[in-house]
Amino acid sequence: MQITIIGVGYVGLVQAVGLADFGFNVTCIEKDKEKLRELKFGRVPFYEPDLEDLLRKNLKRNRLNFTDNYLDNIAQSDVIFICVGTPPKKNGESDLRFVDQVSKEISNKIKGYTVIVSKSTVPVGTSRRIENILKKKNSLKSFDVVSNPEFLREGSALEDFIRPDKVIIGCRTIKAEKILKKIYKPLNRPYVVTNNETAEVIKYANNSFLATKITFINEIADLCENIDAEVETVAKAIGLDGRIGPKFLHPGPGYGGSCFPKDVKSLIYQGKKNSIDLKIVKAVDKANELRIKFLVKRIKKILNNKFNNIQIGILGISFKPNTDDIRKSPGIKLVRDLSKTKAKIKVYDPQAMKNAKKELNKTIEFCSNEYEVAKNSNLLVIVTEWNQFKNLNLFKIKKIMKKPMILDLRNIYSKEIEKNGFYYYAIGNN
Ligand SMILES: NC(=O)c1ccc[n+]([C@@H]2O[C@H](COP(=O)([O-])OP(=O)(O)OC[C@H]3O[C@@H](n4cnc5c(N)ncnc54)[C@H](O)[C@@H]3O)[C@@H](O)[C@H]2O)c1
Repeated sequence: MQITIIGVGYVGLVQAVGLADFGFNVTCIEKDKEKLRELKFGRVPFYEPDLEDLLRKNLKRNRLNFTDNYLDNIAQSDVIFICVGTPPKKNGESDLRFVDQVSKEISNKIKGYTVIVSKSTVPVGTSRRIENILKKKNSLKSFDVVSNPEFLREGSALEDFIRPDKVIIGCRTIKAEKILKKIYKPLNRPYVVTNNETAEVIKYANNSFLATKITFINEIADLCENIDAEVETVAKAIGLDGRIGPKFLHPGPGYGGSCFPKDVKSLIYQGKKNSIDLKIVKAVDKANELRIKFLVKRIKKILNNKFNNIQIGILGISFKPNTDDIRKSPGIKLVRDLSKTKAKIKVYDPQAMKNAKKELNKTIEFCSNEYEVAKNSNLLVIVTEWNQFKNLNLFKIKKIMKKPMILDLRNIYSKEIEKNGFYYYAIGNN
């Protein structure tokens, strides 16, 4: 079976490398020339643990091929995975420009029966939209469009590819279903087979529900902070209820990344378009949007309303650990808001410095480790829970900070460190 992946970003590349490792021949079509060059040399253009090793292994085995050439490759493909981005427009609607471009591009090139799989997160009705584009050039309809949404988490993407909780196959024919099941057979995971439209909703409902859980525990944390209660204990206790479950109940600086914020907004837009007011989802979006403002106010309070002659050190810029992705990262938002004050800001992230430098203004001081950030700071804010921030040399930190104050937005440490002379502030526990 000849498989083609179009768009090799975080999702497409993991899919390509994973399927090649299962033994399939995979051709990747990517329009970004710089990315293409890196990949051909076996270099992953972003940070994702273990991905580069597996990429090199499968390049050596000649199972992976990278190109920008649609013409020579689409006709030979049995299955084409569309993995291009679907960024948000200003009004929350998903921008389907890239999906449309790809559909048009392949519409006059597919030959023989071909399955076109949408792995990109796309609003309800997009399978139909792709079908309609393809039909214009393929009156005999020698294709099927499948919706097969992706649920990987950056930072553990390969693990999630190999062991997903579920594989969603939204399709209209048994023929297409069988082909997808053949591809995913090595995974041996539960399938949910349904129509395309249901599959499309599943992805948005899934992400919006997780965003809701995060936002909910953040609100409970804010309450706990004011009433001498401990949010971690609340989260643990409610998580032990089998109907709730423990995951995604960690309070923090709000959800970020390239998926949750845009998927929540897109779902709201899809509701509006269908005259359905998704009140819960709207509230989640609003609460998350206000989260950083709330935290800036908290920082102001910790600093006694004074930013003059104050240095704030920020640990962590990526939206979560083990990735260099800073798209919609709370760390970026926080630094931007703090840099509007008079405080001097220093930042460090183990992987995201290159991206952070492109995104943040030049008044920020970019450091090469956590201790450089701490040096002369009045307040150290832990924003991303990288492992290396879990084991800081607190003795050293205390010595080099101007005032040993830590605001721990991930609740990595506890009040215990006050015994070492720190002023410690966490989320939902005062
Ligand atoms: N990143 C995640 O964690 C994640 C998880 C699940 C689902 N998704 C969804 O998967 C989709 C892709 O996300 P991503 O993070 O991989 O995006 P990305 O921006 O990292 O990658 C998309 C790639 O597609 C390429 N591309 C765009 N148009 C093209 C064209 N016409 N021909 C060839 N290549 C083209 C881009 O150059 C880019 O490299 C999105 O819809 C996203 O919502 C992402």
